[in-house]
Amino acid sequence: MLDIKIYRTTEPKQKPTGALGFGKIFTDHMFIMNYTEGKGWHDPRIEPYHNLSLAPSAMVFHYGQEMFEGLKAYKGVDGKNYLFRPDMNAKRTNETNKRLCIPYLPEEDFVQAVKAVVKVDEDWIPTEPGTSLYIRPFIIATDEFLGVAPSKTYLFMVILSPSGAYYSSGLEPVGIWIEDDYVRAVKGGMGFAKTGGNYACSLAGQVKAHNDNYSQVLWLDGVHRKYIEEVGSMNIMFKIDGKIVTPALNGSILPGITRNSVIQICKDKGIPVEERQISVDELLEAQKSGKLEEVFGTGTAAVVSPVGKLRYKDDVMTIGDGSIGKVCQMLYDTVTGIQLGKLEDKYGWRVEVK
Ligand code: COI
Repeated sequence: MLDIKIYRTTEPKQKPTGALGFGKIFTDHMFIMNYTEGKGWHDPRIEPYHNLSLAPSAMVFHYGQEMFEGLKAYKGVDGKNYLFRPDMNAKRTNETNKRLCIPYLPEEDFVQAVKAVVKVDEDWIPTEPGTSLYIRPFIIATDEFLGVAPSKTYLFMVILSPSGAYYSSGLEPVGIWIEDDYVRAVKGGMGFAKTGGNYACSLAGQVKAHNDNYSQVLWLDGVHRKYIEEVGSMNIMFKIDGKIVTPALNGSILPGITRNSVIQICKDKGIPVEERQISVDELLEAQKSGKLEEVFGTGTAAVVSPVGKLRYKDDVMTIGDGSIGKVCQMLYDTVTGIQLGKLEDKYGWRVEVK
């Protein structure tokens, strides 16, 4: 159990009014804890949200040894504050840490840190429909050294951002660009890890997609360039001929917590789910034969987001009638219903922040 010291701000900020957007506004406090080789994680504390002072030689700036997570806090319909499956984020943190040679962070310490800072800033949890307090835990390498090696010192921090929908279009279906030139990850690389490099690597494809008025990029596998992997900020699912089909966790895609939850919900509702390889040709054929019924993404930030259009080279696949599909809507309602306590949580996914 961490002994977290709390230093409260004497200058609380004005709470936002109006549209929040995503990840633009930050609360009054942050959690911060140091790691030093030989000493372990130490000095857990909550401080006023502030800028960091780091040496320009700090290793994170040069070789990107860092990780991050994303989860959300909600104001439940009973007025209590909840997290959604924070244990899964804690576990994934250590899967990422192992790949990036970042020290193990005890999972109970991760969850305790998140709960503690959310509790201090609980008044920042927004209550408008579709909003939540987005939580960004992250770890950076801080040694002052230009050699390529794992750092011996780190900072673990948790910052909080009251946010609305990730896509400004909300639940309006988005257009997705299937990238046929750049690749995001290969097996044996770090595609499964939640680390900045995977997202930096996605930017050039994203710029191309934006220039053509598509919101996001769908990545193909890095070897054959024909199997579907994931979208920049979410996992992807297809409803083909009554079944939900989604790429299997093969080492190069992110093991999404919303992905895992949605698969469980579908199975419980009797909707067949296949986790397997899906080629872009299979999608094109399914669309031509009218069997591609729905496409949607799943992610903490994106929740469950409908896709209305997929572009691959010269083909543009229009999905459904331009409105959100029935299964996508049901999954959005079920996931958010459990998160907010509107629906029974038979899985034990909701965790109260006390
Ligand atoms: C999340 O869904 O929490 C993510 O980390 C995606 C992010 C890149 C916005």
